[in-house]
Amino acid sequence: MIRPDTVPDSKAIRRKRSRQRAAKIALTPEPFVIELGEGRMVEVSAQTTALEALRAAGVPLLASCENGVCGSCECGMFSGQPIHRDSVLSKEARGHRFIPCVSRATGVLKLDL
Ligand code: FES
Repeated sequence: MIRPDTVPDSKAIRRKRSRQRAAKIALTPEPFVIELGEGRMVEVSAQTTALEALRAAGVPLLASCENGVCGSCECGMFSGQPIHRDSVLSKEARGHRFIPCVSRATGVLKLDL
């Protein structure tokens, strides 16, 4: 028998589904553009990582885990709106560093490359 106090009410279920939708939207990759220090623009499609796009553009970057945990691909960031998805950078570092193997951005992200 189900106890009434253990069944979530419909309002709680709607809130949970709303949070799940918002989380899914936040994780959906969006295309963005990286501006290199020299001024060249590198497009990052929704189907690729920033690291892959930079490599394809001929920018040599070290990388090891490609999962945002080792920090070997870390690079400097001048401006833009990054979406940090790594597990490496400190809160302070997130203001001026970027992990291209997992993190993304909106619009144009200017990197120190
Ligand atoms: S390659 Fe390890 S954090 Fe990017």
